[in-house]
Amino acid sequence: MKTKWWQKSVIYQIYPRSFQDSNGDGVGDLQGIISRLDYLQELGIGAIWLSPVYKSPMDDNGYDISDYCDIAPEFGTVADMEEMIAEAKKRDIRIVMDLVVNHSSDEHAWFVEARKSKDNPYRDYYIWRDEPNNLISGFTGNWPGSAWTKDESSGQYYLHLFSKKQPDLNWDNPKVHKEVHDLMNFWLDKGVGGFRMDVIDMIGKVIDDELITNGPKLHDYLQEMNAATFGEKARPGFEALTVGETWSATPEIAELYSSPERNELSMVFQFEHIVAMWKEGQKYKGNQLNVPKLKEVFAKWQQLEKGWNSLFWNNHDLPRVVSAFGNDNKYRVQSAKALAILLHLLKGTPYIYEGEELGMTNFPFTDMSQFNDIEARTAAEDLRKAGVAEAEIVPMIRQVSRDNARTPMQWDSSDNAGFTTGKPWLAVNPNYKEINAAVNLQENDSVFHTYQKLIQLRKENDWVVLGDFELLNSAPNVFAYLRKFENKQYLITVNLSDDEQEFKSDFEFGKLLIHNYETENFAETSGSTFKMQPWEAFAVELL
Ligand code: GLC
Ligand code: CA
Repeated sequence: MKTKWWQKSVIYQIYPRSFQDSNGDGVGDLQGIISRLDYLQELGIGAIWLSPVYKSPMDDNGYDISDYCDIAPEFGTVADMEEMIAEAKKRDIRIVMDLVVNHSSDEHAWFVEARKSKDNPYRDYYIWRDEPNNLISGFTGNWPGSAWTKDESSGQYYLHLFSKKQPDLNWDNPKVHKEVHDLMNFWLDKGVGGFRMDVIDMIGKVIDDELITNGPKLHDYLQEMNAATFGEKARPGFEALTVGETWSATPEIAELYSSPERNELSMVFQFEHIVAMWKEGQKYKGNQLNVPKLKEVFAKWQQLEKGWNSLFWNNHDLPRVVSAFGNDNKYRVQSAKALAILLHLLKGTPYIYEGEELGMTNFPFTDMSQFNDIEARTAAEDLRKAGVAEAEIVPMIRQVSRDNARTPMQWDSSDNAGFTTGKPWLAVNPNYKEINAAVNLQENDSVFHTYQKLIQLRKENDWVVLGDFELLNSAPNVFAYLRKFENKQYLITVNLSDDEQEFKSDFEFGKLLIHNYETENFAETSGSTFKMQPWEAFAVELL
């Protein structure tokens, strides 16, 4: 198979609300993004995954869409979007839109019509029952809350697997498929490079069996979508980047989505390495890096043969990686770089979430009033109802809240970190004077420059893209692996702890490719046992 552009590229996720404000209203926007494209070009990324910018009442910050062919006024206009696509293209950057079609907003015209009466032509775009079943919903404030809300005028219940302002679309209705294909083609015709597909594993659900993910028709729907919109059949030679959000995927399932001959998606986001770090398997217990487990999970996923992996630590739903898995205090810079080196030299397409390349950290939340996210607010309500003491709630939510990722991008040390001249919609992290893009760009050994170098390594070396992966035996907190390509071997070794670790190897080291510590006499570590500093990480060619 010919290598695709998205196998050699790194993708950068922008949360538009938080990236750059251009007009002082405190909310990031498309013109703000345009003004920062040079920065992204300097980083070296090949595409932007843009979280939703469509028209939306913003119940879930844009993951509740009321018009798929329009832009939310706070973000700009369709003309701004066109300008952004064109400006990005000049810099060899593609725009990947977020496709949220498991559900719409309850303010979408389809739902406004649908709820008018049982025989409205749009009624069947959504899912109605006379009696609710046991399906539960996220974001209800009443966990485990019912996924059904009664529509008073007809007396029937509609399904919403997320908030009640996010009614689920009825994928049993072929008209819904046609609408979705049309809206995808609307944006593809404007030059969009692909889609990130929100909770796409849910669109094949079988309501009456209470089966939500991996329903029997899911893959048929994706093949049909591929043929009608972004795939080879609809747009020969186009090479769309499509990535599905699939919390439920196993490696076998990921191959169904991403084997090229099945004509579905380029790849999926799997979350096993994220969930495996939740204490006692529960999100609100917080994160704890468990390196042996991490090695096991990654090694398993690296064996994907027919499909293709995505690689990520962060997105808009997750706490900052340097706080969750690294050490955001004493070893902030070293651990941010170590985590980057570990991830970016694996096989797959890496994703960077805005600010990750600066080593941005979680926010020091002290009070519930500082949270914006519907999930955080409803989780607090749920915990209260479950009898958790008030004083324990903020500490629980603080470490995992999605708002950690959503605080404004830290550009420089001016007011509001250069994000806005107005009042930011969500507070800027107080550490912005030390942690920001300007400082990172100035310092040669910054986190930014490590990411930049990793992106460059991938562009210039086929082994990074195509080499086989082999996990090496090492101390529990050392993650060491080989990549093998055309009779050559490359060693990547990362100390994922605050302590010195021993690394024992018989390898003869060749050229040093990347290292997160200043090192003299690196070659002396060849063929021996040596000490690795806390969070030390390097990649080296082997002789
Ligand atoms: C996905 C999104 C998340 C959103 C949810 C509902 O998980 O990543 O932000 O809240 O879907 O659309
Ligand atoms: Ca704005």
